[in-house]
Amino acid sequence: MKFSKKLITWYLQNKRSMPWRETKDPYRIWLSEIILQQTRVAQGLPYYLSFTEAFPSVFELANAKEDEVLKLWQGLGYYSRARNLHTTAKYVANDLNGVFPDNYKGLLNLKGVGDYTASAIASICYNEVAPVVDGNVYRVLSRYYGIETPINSTDGVKEFKKLASELIDHDKPADYNQAIMEFGALQCKPKSPYCIVCPLNDSCESLKQGMVEKLPIKLRKLKIKKRYFNYLVFLINGEQTIIKQRTGNGIWKGLYEFPLIEMEDNSIDVIESHDMFKNVINGAKHEITSFKDTPIIHKLSHQHLHTRFYIVKLNDMPKTEGVYKVVNFKEIHNYPVPILLGNFIDSFFKV
Ligand code: ADE
Repeated sequence: MKFSKKLITWYLQNKRSMPWRETKDPYRIWLSEIILQQTRVAQGLPYYLSFTEAFPSVFELANAKEDEVLKLWQGLGYYSRARNLHTTAKYVANDLNGVFPDNYKGLLNLKGVGDYTASAIASICYNEVAPVVDGNVYRVLSRYYGIETPINSTDGVKEFKKLASELIDHDKPADYNQAIMEFGALQCKPKSPYCIVCPLNDSCESLKQGMVEKLPIKLRKLKIKKRYFNYLVFLINGEQTIIKQRTGNGIWKGLYEFPLIEMEDNSIDVIESHDMFKNVINGAKHEITSFKDTPIIHKLSHQHLHTRFYIVKLNDMPKTEGVYKVVNFKEIHNYPVPILLGNFIDSFFKV
């Protein structure tokens, strides 16, 4: 049996039952695929359910407030994806009368929809022969064919896309694409794959060569940058605090956070002598303590954020201007925040 037929047979017997596998509605498939670029299938399910409940069609998503979309996205990371999702919903609802493009090329025009997402939607919804190449596909193909070209090199991207185009089943592109991704997720897993019970184990090149765990090969390109974040968590009269919306184009644009002092260090001395701290406090009596003894290290793809939360107790209203918002603790859960802060808020304010 051919590679693609074996994969499809395996898929039909082993696939997990998921709500987006029960529909061909391009709105729902698009939503699921954008979410699944951020997380694994099991972790993506609750997000898909909250989005489809809050926004049953592209029109409700288009009419939502950006904060509401970011709040539902909270925890998935890479928030520009959520903003692109919203932009595209508005474009489809307002300029395309709610109708998604019905082919790969047309789908590529949507913001946030690249080669992977356009191929996934075109194949799943319209049976177009458009091969997907995601992390799972790289792993399955590099192992089965014993390919050592780095998957994040220009040559690698071309080589794997070409191979995927040759392998896709022309009669069942939707099943084939989903089969190879599901196979990568469940069977040909990154660590300890079950090669003994694999339906492809009689012809897998990397298994023959003892290379399974070494593939795929990925070039390590970027040096990880360390950043030192010091958050000021004001407790004003035991019931209010201060937050600010992040602007600019950096990480977490549009999300809320406590006043931040970013320095080359996480020490308390640095905070108390900082101009921003002195200005806000304005000479008022205060008490400052560190939430934990050691910094929390939050790892993003290209940076590690060494983070401390400093609790600043005050009886007087501090001096705040413009961008700083004084809010009651009880309201803080309504604001979209990075998960790093969400975890802190959950443990500190005890929901
Ligand atoms: N990962 C991302 N999208 C997927 C899909 N449609 N099926 C299986 N795994 C996926």
